[in-house]
Amino acid sequence: MYLGLDLGTSALKAVLLAPDHSVAGQASASLAIAQPRPLWSEQNPADWEAALFAVCDELAAAHPGEMARVRAIGLAGQMHGAVVLDAARRPLRPAILWNDGRSHAECAALDAAVPDAPAITGNRAMPGFTAPKLLWLARHEPEVFAQIHLVLLPKDFLRLRLSGEAVTDMSDASGMFLLDVAARAWSAPLVAACSLTPAQLPRLVEGSAPAATLLPQMARRWGMGEGVILAGGAGDNAACAIGMGVVRPGDGFVSLGTSGVIFRVTDGFQPNAAACIHAFCHALPGTWHQMAVILSAASALRWVTRLTGSADEASLLAQVALLPPEARATAPLFLPYLSGERTPHNDAEATGAFLGLTHAHGAAALGYAVLEGVAFALRDGLLALGGGAPGGRFILVGGGTRSPLWCQLLADILGMTLIFSEGGENAGALGAARLAWLADGGALDSVCRQPAAQHVFTPASTGWAPRYASFRAVYPKLNRLV
Ligand code: XUL
Repeated sequence: MYLGLDLGTSALKAVLLAPDHSVAGQASASLAIAQPRPLWSEQNPADWEAALFAVCDELAAAHPGEMARVRAIGLAGQMHGAVVLDAARRPLRPAILWNDGRSHAECAALDAAVPDAPAITGNRAMPGFTAPKLLWLARHEPEVFAQIHLVLLPKDFLRLRLSGEAVTDMSDASGMFLLDVAARAWSAPLVAACSLTPAQLPRLVEGSAPAATLLPQMARRWGMGEGVILAGGAGDNAACAIGMGVVRPGDGFVSLGTSGVIFRVTDGFQPNAAACIHAFCHALPGTWHQMAVILSAASALRWVTRLTGSADEASLLAQVALLPPEARATAPLFLPYLSGERTPHNDAEATGAFLGLTHAHGAAALGYAVLEGVAFALRDGLLALGGGAPGGRFILVGGGTRSPLWCQLLADILGMTLIFSEGGENAGALGAARLAWLADGGALDSVCRQPAAQHVFTPASTGWAPRYASFRAVYPKLNRLV
């Protein structure tokens, strides 16, 4: 039995995966984000720890037999967050998250200090990444920076609590802007540019390798045996890929999570920093991937649900489904940059907008505009990646894919066949459990198989094209007006 834990932004999710690939148990605990100032996005590591204990206690109570048989645990999580700890390994301040935009000046400083950083890291310096946040702390909170003993990524903070070990994996480490991504090793010039030393960083392992052992007191609390392995694990996107069997060059997925992602496995390390594409290590040795990332996807749907006073996402989506085609064609346009944007604009200060509002527009029209605007932003990402492979099929993952309406719109607008499979909503936790299985000696082909398709969305309409042309024209004009 394998336990996968995925520390998302809106919830920590857990799955118990049996060796016949069935899910023997699931639990989740929700998490809130604090936005204490414009552009800031933070969470308290103590809340992650509380969520970890809540889900594992729940699983131990509901599935004691299965928990007793757990051989290994995998960790996945939201990427890029800066968790800074003192010498007693206590958080010095709240963690600065992946969608925090405060550090754009520090990105420019890193670009100047290490001109070949894009070639080393496979990326442009972006405020979402960890290194510019550390530099921001050095400049704006020097008393905190001076006490930093250890820098961890979010899921690795949980590993520290579970095992006492400071370890990260290659896929998540890639998002720190401190890794030489081709060499799969810390980059001395980038670490030095942040006024850090490698001793302040975690040990690096491959995602599918054993990284640490569960502490005896945790094993006792959850009724587990001795010597439970903690696998390296992965950043949430690489973990989703493992969970859905996206492991060979050309395989890919589209994610509608809090963020939106188009992910594809590449043949070797293929940086394309100029297009604002991320080129990162995959969670398997000798494997890399590229991804286009937009910062607001399912979070934009959550936002418009609240804005329109709708009871929940499902009831707003039900109203959107009733809109006739002419109402869709005259809906407002929506720019989904509610937390700034990465691909293709690399603009932490980009903002969202509705355009073309009239008295005729109600909640359903706004809801439609948001679904379409997110799909348009993902199309921008797909084009930045160089377009989809002809006849390509990508797998759908993330909570937003619960909406068949959104999935079909996405298939139309991306011009790609999209596959909805069992487990896609929870792919990160499933991937984490699969990495645990690999670390316990499982064979790649049997562990990382692609789940059977439950529904295939094929592109059926190109009616969106004129509205996409307008969408593309808006950002360069509106940018910096407000
Ligand atoms: C990826 C990214 C997001 C977070 C969300 O670069 O920032 O997808 O990992 O959890």
